[in-house]
Amino acid sequence: MKVGIIGSGNVAQTLAKGFLSSGHNVKLGTRSPEKLGEWLSEVANENLSVGSNVEAAEFGELLVLATGWEGTKNAIELANAENFAGKVVIDVTNPLDFSAGPPPKLAVQYPESGGELVQKWLPDANVVKAFNTVSAHIMIHPHLQEGNPDLFIAGNDDQAKWVVTEIATEWGWENVHDLGDMTNAYWLETFAMLWIYFGFRNNHWTHAFKLLMK
Ligand SMILES: NC(=O)c1ccc[n+]([C@@H]2O[C@H](COP(=O)([O-])OP(=O)(O)OC[C@H]3O[C@@H](n4cnc5c(N)ncnc54)[C@H](OP(=O)(O)O)[C@@H]3O)[C@@H](O)[C@H]2O)c1
Repeated sequence: MKVGIIGSGNVAQTLAKGFLSSGHNVKLGTRSPEKLGEWLSEVANENLSVGSNVEAAEFGELLVLATGWEGTKNAIELANAENFAGKVVIDVTNPLDFSAGPPPKLAVQYPESGGELVQKWLPDANVVKAFNTVSAHIMIHPHLQEGNPDLFIAGNDDQAKWVVTEIATEWGWENVHDLGDMTNAYWLETFAMLWIYFGFRNNHWTHAFKLLMK
Protein backbone atom coordinates (compact mmCIF):
# COMPACT_ATOMS: atom_id res chain seq x y z
CA MET A 1 0.00 0.00 0.00
CA LYS A 2 1.13 3.58 -0.62
CA VAL A 3 1.00 5.66 2.55
CA GLY A 4 1.19 9.45 2.65
CA ILE A 5 2.03 11.05 5.99
CA ILE A 6 1.26 14.74 6.46
CA GLY A 7 3.83 16.04 8.93
CA SER A 8 7.50 15.31 9.40
CA GLY A 9 8.05 15.35 13.16
CA ASN A 10 8.53 12.67 15.76
CA VAL A 11 5.21 10.92 15.11
CA ALA A 12 5.48 11.12 11.31
CA GLN A 13 9.01 9.68 11.31
CA THR A 14 8.07 6.91 13.75
CA LEU A 15 4.94 5.86 11.87
CA ALA A 16 6.89 5.98 8.60
CA LYS A 17 9.23 3.35 10.04
CA GLY A 18 6.23 1.31 11.20
CA PHE A 19 4.66 1.32 7.74
CA LEU A 20 8.01 0.50 6.12
CA SER A 21 8.45 -2.44 8.48
CA SER A 22 5.04 -3.71 7.33
CA GLY A 23 6.20 -3.56 3.69
CA HIS A 24 4.39 -0.38 2.61
CA ASN A 25 5.68 2.52 0.49
CA VAL A 26 5.77 5.80 2.40
CA LYS A 27 6.00 9.47 1.46
CA LEU A 28 6.29 12.11 4.19
CA GLY A 29 4.79 15.53 3.43
CA THR A 30 6.39 18.67 4.82
CA ARG A 31 6.70 22.37 4.07
CA SER A 32 10.49 21.93 4.08
CA PRO A 33 11.52 18.64 2.40
CA GLU A 34 15.19 19.65 2.49
CA LYS A 35 15.33 19.40 6.30
CA LEU A 36 14.74 15.64 6.10
CA GLY A 37 17.75 14.83 3.92
CA GLU A 38 19.86 13.50 6.77
CA TRP A 39 17.01 11.42 8.20
CA LEU A 40 16.29 9.96 4.75
CA SER A 41 19.94 8.89 4.43
CA GLU A 42 19.87 7.37 7.92
CA VAL A 43 16.75 5.31 7.26
CA ALA A 44 18.06 4.43 3.79
CA ASN A 45 14.99 2.63 2.51
CA GLU A 46 14.06 2.73 -1.17
CA ASN A 47 10.37 2.63 -0.21
CA LEU A 48 10.65 5.93 1.68
CA SER A 49 10.50 9.39 0.13
CA VAL A 50 9.80 12.96 1.17
CA GLY A 51 7.80 15.63 -0.65
CA SER A 52 5.47 18.54 -0.16
CA ASN A 53 2.19 18.09 1.71
CA VAL A 54 0.26 17.93 -1.55
CA GLU A 55 2.67 15.38 -3.04
CA ALA A 56 2.28 13.13 0.02
CA ALA A 57 -1.51 13.47 -0.08
CA GLU A 58 -1.64 12.63 -3.79
CA PHE A 59 0.73 9.69 -3.27
CA GLY A 60 -1.03 7.96 -0.39
CA GLU A 61 -3.85 5.46 -0.80
CA LEU A 62 -3.98 5.71 2.98
CA LEU A 63 -3.11 9.01 4.66
CA VAL A 64 -1.92 9.95 8.14
CA LEU A 65 -2.30 13.35 9.78
CA ALA A 66 0.65 13.85 12.13
CA THR A 67 0.78 17.61 12.49
CA GLY A 68 0.91 19.95 15.45
CA TRP A 69 -2.68 20.96 16.16
CA GLU A 70 -2.15 24.66 15.45
CA GLY A 71 -0.86 23.78 11.97
CA THR A 72 -3.30 21.00 11.12
CA LYS A 73 -5.87 23.04 9.18
CA ASN A 74 -3.12 24.75 7.21
CA ALA A 75 -1.41 21.43 6.48
CA ILE A 76 -4.70 20.05 5.14
CA GLU A 77 -5.16 23.13 2.96
CA LEU A 78 -1.62 22.76 1.64
CA ALA A 79 -2.30 19.07 0.94
CA ASN A 80 -5.67 19.88 -0.73
CA ALA A 81 -8.69 18.30 0.95
CA GLU A 82 -9.74 16.73 -2.37
CA ASN A 83 -6.73 14.41 -2.17
CA PHE A 84 -8.19 12.85 1.00
CA ALA A 85 -11.56 12.00 -0.55
CA GLY A 86 -12.55 8.33 -0.24
CA LYS A 87 -9.32 7.45 1.62
CA VAL A 88 -8.72 6.13 5.11
CA VAL A 89 -7.11 8.96 7.10
CA ILE A 90 -5.50 8.16 10.44
CA ASP A 91 -5.71 11.25 12.66
CA VAL A 92 -2.99 11.07 15.31
CA THR A 93 -3.24 14.73 16.31
CA ASN A 94 -4.13 16.00 19.75
CA PRO A 95 -5.74 19.45 19.90
CA LEU A 96 -3.29 20.96 22.37
CA ASP A 97 -2.99 24.60 23.36
CA PHE A 98 0.47 25.47 24.67
CA SER A 99 -0.20 29.23 24.75
CA ALA A 100 0.04 29.33 28.56
CA GLY A 101 3.10 27.05 28.56
CA PRO A 102 3.29 23.39 29.54
CA PRO A 103 1.39 21.38 30.48
CA PRO A 104 -0.94 22.18 27.60
CA LYS A 105 -4.70 22.57 27.73
CA LEU A 106 -7.22 21.13 25.31
CA ALA A 107 -7.78 23.59 22.46
CA VAL A 108 -11.36 22.40 21.94
CA GLN A 109 -14.35 22.31 24.25
CA TYR A 110 -16.85 19.49 24.73
CA PRO A 111 -18.71 18.35 22.71
CA GLU A 112 -16.40 19.54 19.93
CA SER A 113 -13.21 17.58 19.34
CA GLY A 114 -10.15 17.74 17.12
CA GLY A 115 -11.27 14.50 15.45
CA GLU A 116 -14.66 15.96 14.57
CA LEU A 117 -13.06 19.14 13.24
CA VAL A 118 -10.68 17.11 11.07
CA GLN A 119 -13.61 15.06 9.74
CA LYS A 120 -15.43 18.34 9.01
CA TRP A 121 -12.39 19.72 7.15
CA LEU A 122 -12.19 16.42 5.22
CA PRO A 123 -15.87 15.66 4.62
CA ASP A 124 -15.26 12.98 1.98
CA ALA A 125 -12.51 11.12 3.86
CA ASN A 126 -12.89 8.21 6.27
CA VAL A 127 -11.10 9.64 9.27
CA VAL A 128 -10.10 7.38 12.16
CA LYS A 129 -8.73 8.88 15.35
CA ALA A 130 -6.03 6.49 16.57
CA PHE A 131 -2.64 6.23 18.26
CA ASN A 132 -3.13 9.63 19.97
CA THR A 133 -3.12 8.19 23.49
CA VAL A 134 0.46 6.87 23.52
CA SER A 135 3.88 8.36 22.90
CA ALA A 136 5.29 7.99 19.42
CA HIS A 137 7.69 5.11 20.01
CA ILE A 138 4.94 3.00 21.63
CA MET A 139 2.68 3.44 18.56
CA ILE A 140 4.72 0.89 16.63
CA HIS A 141 6.18 -1.05 19.60
CA PRO A 142 3.29 -1.50 22.05
CA HIS A 143 5.18 -3.60 24.53
CA LEU A 144 6.05 -2.31 28.00
CA GLN A 145 7.82 -3.98 30.87
CA GLU A 146 4.55 -4.26 32.82
CA GLY A 147 2.48 -5.54 29.90
CA ASN A 148 0.99 -4.51 26.60
CA PRO A 149 -1.28 -1.47 26.45
CA ASP A 150 -4.61 -1.26 24.61
CA LEU A 151 -5.41 0.96 21.66
CA PHE A 152 -8.58 3.06 21.49
CA ILE A 153 -9.97 4.33 18.19
CA ALA A 154 -13.01 6.23 16.92
CA GLY A 155 -14.40 7.10 13.51
CA ASN A 156 -17.53 7.05 11.40
CA ASP A 157 -16.59 4.34 8.93
CA ASP A 158 -16.42 0.70 10.07
CA GLN A 159 -14.33 -0.43 7.11
CA ALA A 160 -11.76 2.32 7.81
CA LYS A 161 -11.60 1.29 11.47
CA TRP A 162 -11.05 -2.30 10.34
CA VAL A 163 -8.10 -1.18 8.18
CA VAL A 164 -6.57 0.71 11.12
CA THR A 165 -7.13 -2.27 13.42
CA GLU A 166 -5.30 -4.51 10.92
CA ILE A 167 -2.34 -2.10 10.80
CA ALA A 168 -2.24 -1.84 14.61
CA THR A 169 -2.41 -5.60 14.96
CA GLU A 170 0.52 -5.95 12.58
CA TRP A 171 2.51 -3.59 14.80
CA GLY A 172 1.75 -5.77 17.83
CA TRP A 173 -1.37 -4.22 19.38
CA GLU A 174 -3.32 -7.06 21.00
CA ASN A 175 -6.50 -5.17 21.90
CA VAL A 176 -7.99 -2.42 19.76
CA HIS A 177 -11.16 -0.94 21.27
CA ASP A 178 -13.58 0.79 18.91
CA LEU A 179 -15.21 3.65 20.85
CA GLY A 180 -17.78 4.34 18.15
CA ASP A 181 -18.25 7.24 15.77
CA MET A 182 -16.24 10.45 15.63
CA THR A 183 -18.43 12.19 18.22
CA ASN A 184 -16.40 10.06 20.66
CA ALA A 185 -13.04 11.50 19.59
CA TYR A 186 -13.40 13.92 22.49
CA TRP A 187 -12.95 11.04 24.95
CA LEU A 188 -9.80 9.91 23.14
CA GLU A 189 -8.42 13.43 23.33
CA THR A 190 -9.23 13.86 27.02
CA PHE A 191 -7.69 10.42 27.55
CA ALA A 192 -4.54 11.78 25.89
CA MET A 193 -4.68 14.75 28.29
CA LEU A 194 -4.66 12.36 31.25
CA TRP A 195 -1.61 10.69 29.73
CA ILE A 196 0.06 14.09 29.12
CA TYR A 197 -0.65 15.41 32.65
CA PHE A 198 0.72 12.22 34.18
CA GLY A 199 3.81 12.65 31.99
CA PHE A 200 4.45 16.26 33.03
CA ARG A 201 3.70 15.56 36.71
CA ASN A 202 6.09 12.62 36.89
CA ASN A 203 8.47 13.49 34.05
CA HIS A 204 7.75 10.03 32.74
CA TRP A 205 6.81 9.36 29.11
CA THR A 206 6.75 5.62 28.71
CA HIS A 207 3.40 4.94 30.32
CA ALA A 208 0.32 3.68 28.48
CA PHE A 209 -3.20 2.49 29.29
CA LYS A 210 -4.68 -0.98 29.47
CA LEU A 211 -8.36 -1.73 30.00
CA LEU A 212 -8.77 -4.46 32.58
CA MET A 213 -11.98 -6.45 32.66
CA LYS A 214 -13.24 -9.25 34.87
N1 LIG B 1 4.95 13.09 20.02
C1 LIG B 1 4.15 12.15 20.54
O1 LIG B 1 4.62 11.25 21.24
C2 LIG B 1 2.65 12.20 20.26
C3 LIG B 1 1.84 11.20 20.78
C4 LIG B 1 0.47 11.21 20.48
C5 LIG B 1 -0.04 12.21 19.68
N2 LIG B 1 0.77 13.21 19.20
C6 LIG B 1 0.21 14.24 18.33
O2 LIG B 1 0.67 13.99 17.00
C7 LIG B 1 0.89 15.24 16.32
C8 LIG B 1 2.34 15.31 15.84
O3 LIG B 1 3.20 15.23 16.93
P1 LIG B 1 4.79 15.39 16.77
O4 LIG B 1 5.37 15.18 18.12
O5 LIG B 1 5.26 14.60 15.63
O6 LIG B 1 4.86 16.93 16.44
P2 LIG B 1 6.06 17.76 15.82
O7 LIG B 1 7.32 16.96 15.91
O8 LIG B 1 6.00 19.07 16.48
O9 LIG B 1 5.62 17.86 14.28
C9 LIG B 1 4.60 18.68 13.94
C10 LIG B 1 4.44 18.70 12.44
O10 LIG B 1 3.38 19.62 12.20
C11 LIG B 1 3.67 20.36 11.04
N3 LIG B 1 3.21 21.75 11.21
C12 LIG B 1 3.37 22.54 12.31
N4 LIG B 1 2.83 23.76 12.07
C13 LIG B 1 2.36 23.74 10.80
C14 LIG B 1 1.70 24.69 9.99
N5 LIG B 1 1.40 25.94 10.41
N6 LIG B 1 1.33 24.32 8.73
C15 LIG B 1 1.60 23.07 8.26
N7 LIG B 1 2.24 22.12 8.99
C16 LIG B 1 2.59 22.44 10.26
C17 LIG B 1 5.17 20.37 10.86
O11 LIG B 1 5.38 20.12 9.49
P3 LIG B 1 6.58 20.76 8.65
O12 LIG B 1 7.49 19.62 8.38
O13 LIG B 1 5.90 21.28 7.44
O14 LIG B 1 7.24 21.82 9.49
C18 LIG B 1 5.67 19.20 11.70
O15 LIG B 1 6.12 18.16 10.91
C19 LIG B 1 0.53 16.34 17.30
O16 LIG B 1 -0.80 16.76 17.07
C20 LIG B 1 0.66 15.66 18.66
O17 LIG B 1 -0.17 16.25 19.65
C21 LIG B 1 2.10 13.22 19.47
